[in-house]
Amino acid sequence: MKPLSKSDQQLLEQHFYNIAPDWKDTETQKHCMRVAVFSLHIGRAVGLAEEQVKSVGRAAFLHDIGKMATPEAILRKPSALNPEELAIMRKHPYDGYQLLKKTTPLLDDAAEIVYAHHENFDGTGYPRGLKGEEIPFGARIVAVANTWDSITSDLPYRKAKSLDAADEELQRCRGRQLDPTIVDTVLNMPEDFWVGIYQDIKAVYNNISILQITPVAIQ
Ligand SMILES: [Fe+2]
Repeated sequence: MKPLSKSDQQLLEQHFYNIAPDWKDTETQKHCMRVAVFSLHIGRAVGLAEEQVKSVGRAAFLHDIGKMATPEAILRKPSALNPEELAIMRKHPYDGYQLLKKTTPLLDDAAEIVYAHHENFDGTGYPRGLKGEEIPFGARIVAVANTWDSITSDLPYRKAKSLDAADEELQRCRGRQLDPTIVDTVLNMPEDFWVGIYQDIKAVYNNISILQITPVAIQ
């Protein structure tokens, strides 16, 4: 993948600017920021080239953009979703994919990752039931970051758990929901890997541009 030209960067900046303020749920936006930070760090740790890392970071940041079409009552429900609500929630990967495909070809790679971010490594995920390497590598990175974030953050129906609990969850999901090689990379990271992530998460809440996935600063 080639670095984006200056005019492409500017176009991408405009598209981010147009999309991001439409997020009606700020918790969703913060979750996407944290998953972007974590995905960028994982992408570098597994040895991706910097342009691919940025592409995964953009996709991670936009991964739940399809939730713009999900009713707030479902997004904020303080208890488990019933089957009908779950079916509506599970539309968000495809809704996000369609939105990005309509936005610009510059986000085509991100669209594929968004579409596949709830696929499971063992083929039991949704919406297409993709398995193993059928799932774009970037989507497998975002899935690990997403799992980690959902354990270590407060959710509408339960409080955040510890980092040790997140490690246990990654271990439990290794080879089932999650790509085992990516899980192993994360679990074997030195202490400063986590320090860097937490510093970036603190900074990104004030200014998304520190991630350098696009030059725009989203207020
Ligand atoms: Fe999602």
